Amino acid sequence: MITPVLLCGGSGTRLWPVSRKSYPKQFTRLIGNQSLFQASAQRLASVGFGAPVVVTGSDFRFVVGEQLLEAGVDPGTILIEPSARNTGPAILAAALHMSRTDPDALMLVAPSDHVMPDPEAFRAAVATAVPAARAGRIVTFGIRPTHAETGYGWLELGEDPAPGSPVPLRRFVEKPDAAQAAAMLAAGSYLWNAGIFLFSARVLLEAFEAHCPALLEPVAAAVERARPDLGFLRLDPDAWAGAEDISIDYAVMERAGNLSVVPFSGGWSDLGGWDAIWREMSPDADGMAVLGPVTAIDCRNSLLRSESEGLELVGIGLRDMIAVAMPDAVLIADRSRGQEVKLAVTALREKG
Ligand code: GDD
Ligand code: MG
Repeated sequence: MITPVLLCGGSGTRLWPVSRKSYPKQFTRLIGNQSLFQASAQRLASVGFGAPVVVTGSDFRFVVGEQLLEAGVDPGTILIEPSARNTGPAILAAALHMSRTDPDALMLVAPSDHVMPDPEAFRAAVATAVPAARAGRIVTFGIRPTHAETGYGWLELGEDPAPGSPVPLRRFVEKPDAAQAAAMLAAGSYLWNAGIFLFSARVLLEAFEAHCPALLEPVAAAVERARPDLGFLRLDPDAWAGAEDISIDYAVMERAGNLSVVPFSGGWSDLGGWDAIWREMSPDADGMAVLGPVTAIDCRNSLLRSESEGLELVGIGLRDMIAVAMPDAVLIADRSRGQEVKLAVTALREKG
């Protein structure tokens, strides 16, 4: 049995103003009628994995419960983090929780903010990863890179990938700078890290012991002293406060020697910014993606969204633009600069 561990505690600042601190992107209906979190949970359930362990923040617990119910997915266990400490502590907490009943349980760690149009291809990729995970490997899933992305992890292949079987990983490089990313793209021997991992709880705990031991004590204490609360399992806040804020990629993946990668070509998109949303909205022949009460006159290759019933958004002569209107905030940006929305959100927070 494979247990999905669904991470949904991120704040998704690059999709402001739709994604907010109190209601991040994975819970909003960015594309289609379901939230990304619902689509992720359903995708994992539809291909026969077990009920998930969901790890999320205290503020999101009711949204998570309601959205799982609405999507018809068995809620499994919902672990509540007293505060966001990034993916390292979140995944470690899930591993410690699961190893109490079965240290050899296989954990399929998955983000909740991705689009994957072909669940069956994903299931098949996971199936090829299972023997390696049972044999003590940490298995990553690799996507063929299309550009020198600095927001992802890059996986250096130890040998040519044979379809349908994992390849040992030579190196894991998290969020390289632009020059490094360009060099890795040109080298041709790298894949992007999809942010999905398969390993046994035991192997992950051993990896933390070897590469990031300082996290073990506070997170183990937070799990031991966790208390049930209205169907959720609330990690102990005092113990959790001592856990470092670090992603699994820096804490374990960049340091461990027992990584493998399964190449995955079944379609994958990390909706990391408005440019990716524009692409996923299937722009028309003029490259226009529009949503809500919008009028576009002579516009090309742009995204116009009004998320407010009574707010008419009009664009004239726009090229490669993003315009997103909410009742209380409007974003207007060059489409190539969508990643800088994150900086804008930081500036807004500082303004108070
Ligand atoms: N529970 C919990 N708590 N979840 C979290 C937290 C946290 O503190 N922080 C982030 N998450 C969730 C996010 O909601 C998302 O679903 C997932 O964990 C990944 O976090 P991101 O913050 O989106 O990571 P990233 O996109 O910068 O990088 C990761 O994903 C890339 C692919 O999308 C890395 O694994 C990269 O190597 C990878 O290429
Ligand atoms: Mg992400």
